[in-house]
Amino acid sequence: MMTDPDLLSKMQREWDARALENARFYVNTERTDWKDDDFFESGRRTVKEEILTDMINICQGKDPKQMTVLEIGCGVGRVTRALAEIFGTVHGVDVSGEMVRQAKAACADVPNAHFWQGNGADLRILGDVRVDFAFSSIVFQHIPSREVIENYVCEVHRLLRSGGLFKFQVQGDASMETEAGDTWLGVPFSDEQAVAMANKCGFEPRHRHGAGGQYFWLWFFK
Ligand SMILES: C[S@@+](CC[C@H](N)C(=O)[O-])C[C@H]1O[C@@H](n2cnc3c(N)ncnc32)[C@H](O)[C@@H]1O
Repeated sequence: MMTDPDLLSKMQREWDARALENARFYVNTERTDWKDDDFFESGRRTVKEEILTDMINICQGKDPKQMTVLEIGCGVGRVTRALAEIFGTVHGVDVSGEMVRQAKAACADVPNAHFWQGNGADLRILGDVRVDFAFSSIVFQHIPSREVIENYVCEVHRLLRSGGLFKFQVQGDASMETEAGDTWLGVPFSDEQAVAMANKCGFEPRHRHGAGGQYFWLWFFK
């Protein structure tokens, strides 16, 4: 894929700056002064709502403790920590080295959570890791390039085991004023564009929820 290297370094630079200013706020803007327990509890809430309610699609009969899970845009490990309480191995990837540094420090007591700084567009940093399930929430809403998001989706397809699920969110509200290069407001997807992206990357877009809204959930099965 030809990705604009300027955009990748801008995403990295601007998310590093946000992480240095107040990582927990930019990860979850509900509060500016998160305490450890409340912050990680908010990640457990995400997992309770989006993962534990959906274990049939996610595990498909597998023992969660035997599963390897990927989280794209892991930030400082808010959700990664909660995923690691359920699944055997969790790999979190983020474009920001500063987010990854803080995630490693905050989750030093979680031996089955691994954090990686990627280049902002692909998953080469993971080498030949294979995953049973992939997840991403409130990340692609911040990516201004359709090409980058599609590349991540194709990359997940490459790493996911056959039949596995990639459950993720995109921006579904087409009225959002996005500008090329804005690393806060990402590019929106219509339902048709989401289906086209699944087809392009080899996925079956089996379920979709929230088209037209800020939290457009997609269930792509390999
Ligand atoms: C709003 S935070 C959410 C973090 C995490 N998903 C959570 O819910 O706690 C968005 C995260 O996406 C990361 N991010 C933004 N653009 C990215 C990209 N192109 N590739 C990977 N991560 C990216 C940011 O560095 C940030 O950590």
